[in-house]
Amino acid sequence: MEALELVQGQIKEYVTQIGDEKSLKLLEMLPTGKMLRSKLILKIADVNDASIKLCAVVEMIHAASLLHDDVIDDATTRRGQKTINALFGNLTSIMFGDILYSKAFTELTLMDKEIAYTISNAVTLLSVGELLDVELSKTFNTSYDKYLDMIYKKTASLIEASAKSAAILAGKNKEIFALYGRNLGIAFQMVDDILDITEESSKLGKPAMLDFVEGKVTIPYLLTWERLSNEERTKLESFYKKELNNEETIWLKSKFQETNAITESIDLAKKFGQEAIEAIKNENNNELVLIMKAMIERDF
Ligand code: FPP
Ligand code: MG
Repeated sequence: MEALELVQGQIKEYVTQIGDEKSLKLLEMLPTGKMLRSKLILKIADVNDASIKLCAVVEMIHAASLLHDDVIDDATTRRGQKTINALFGNLTSIMFGDILYSKAFTELTLMDKEIAYTISNAVTLLSVGELLDVELSKTFNTSYDKYLDMIYKKTASLIEASAKSAAILAGKNKEIFALYGRNLGIAFQMVDDILDITEESSKLGKPAMLDFVEGKVTIPYLLTWERLSNEERTKLESFYKKELNNEETIWLKSKFQETNAITESIDLAKKFGQEAIEAIKNENNNELVLIMKAMIERDF
């Protein structure tokens, strides 16, 4: 059986142990994602009972965070399917998130203490990151430092903790792998923020160009804003949190083009990706280099 299927099986076993039919049904309705965190863990710590359990715990925490995030963002589609909140309401999405999240923590208490600390600390950061995202979405954010801090916490922290925990499991240098995970995670979120603009919703499995409507001034918007004249800045700011008409969308896309904001956002994501590779250059793990490259070149 393929390793990622073993992780799926482990998640199902954990949820079965809860002894609640409804939870199992909801689990079956959750679309499988890219399982990036599991791929990293398995490439660092190999496939064995402990690494599969660690993957299952991390994927359950990640799934829980998305169940909550879709309520926060009022999202109706994810990975090409209707979200749990769209199908059964916010309460079900929140409570099922809580079930997955607390079962994952129960299993975490049975693991190595440093791993339990690393993962649970990342979940605190993740939650702070989500709160920062909500705060930054209230008014037009023009600070790159705030954006970077937010995406580190919201997305990279759990990827960093996954890579670090896998290194602890495998007796490898934890700081090096943590640095790899951190930089990969930042690059991953930047690519996500770029794809929101460059890809069709059919590819993304969720609506396209939605970030700015939701108040998220992501890296391509930040770089564009920096390079516009005062007059143009005012125009861009007037588009904030608005459904744009055709003409406005064309103007916005022409500004992305003129300012090179998309190309430079991709270059910036690549720079973080390169730093991830740099961190593990003496580890002789080409698979991790390939994961980074595939992550940058993905289109959904
Ligand atoms: C997706 O961001 C959201 C996250 C990566 C983190 C969400 C974290 C929480 C809700 C904290 C609570 C945590 C637990 C474990 C219950 P996004 O909205 O930018 O991406 P999207 O387009 O995929 O929705
Ligand atoms: Mg969201």
